[in-house]
Amino acid sequence: MEFNESEFLIETIVPSEELIISRTDLKGNITYANETFANISGYKVDELIGKSHNIVRHPDMPKIIFEEMWQSLKANNRWEGIVKNLRKDKGYYWVNAVVSGVYKDNVLVEYKSLRTPISFEEKVKFQKMYDEMRSLHGENIRQIIYKN
Ligand SMILES: Cc1cc2nc3c(=O)[nH]c(=O)nc-3n(C[C@H](O)[C@H](O)[C@H](O)COP(=O)(O)O)c2cc1C
Repeated sequence: MEFNESEFLIETIVPSEELIISRTDLKGNITYANETFANISGYKVDELIGKSHNIVRHPDMPKIIFEEMWQSLKANNRWEGIVKNLRKDKGYYWVNAVVSGVYKDNVLVEYKSLRTPISFEEKVKFQKMYDEMRSLHGENIRQIIYKN
């Protein structure tokens, strides 16, 4: 995957006063997205429904973070963590995500994620931490090349 679009470096600021919600089936395919989640991700709600949630996966995210997320979910635990997401226009946004099961009559039917904004200091901290984690695990290292 190559990201040389200029939008790749543009951040979308996540609103603090709105709920940012998506739900998936048990395989991680999106079953519901609210307008705010679709908006900050640069999509229309309709474009997201039925798609794998990795549609917003940013290449700066270490694989192990999502492996841990899925391990927690499979063990019926909620997962909370910091996620950098990729917008449709290749820009990005940072959130704190709380992902957990949706139960109907005590049976796990879906997963849901609720997101809130994080501070600038946290973004810097997690960008560095995730860069190091990817480097440790031999994952893609981001290089920014400025062209005239
Ligand atoms: C409810 C729910 C919400 C999720 N939200 C995100 C998200 O915002 N961004 C993201 O990259 N992955 C999210 N995931 C994880 C993806 O399903 C996927 O595991 C991840 O993007 C990594 O892609 P991969 O599993 O194809 O490697 C979510 C999963 C669930 C169950």
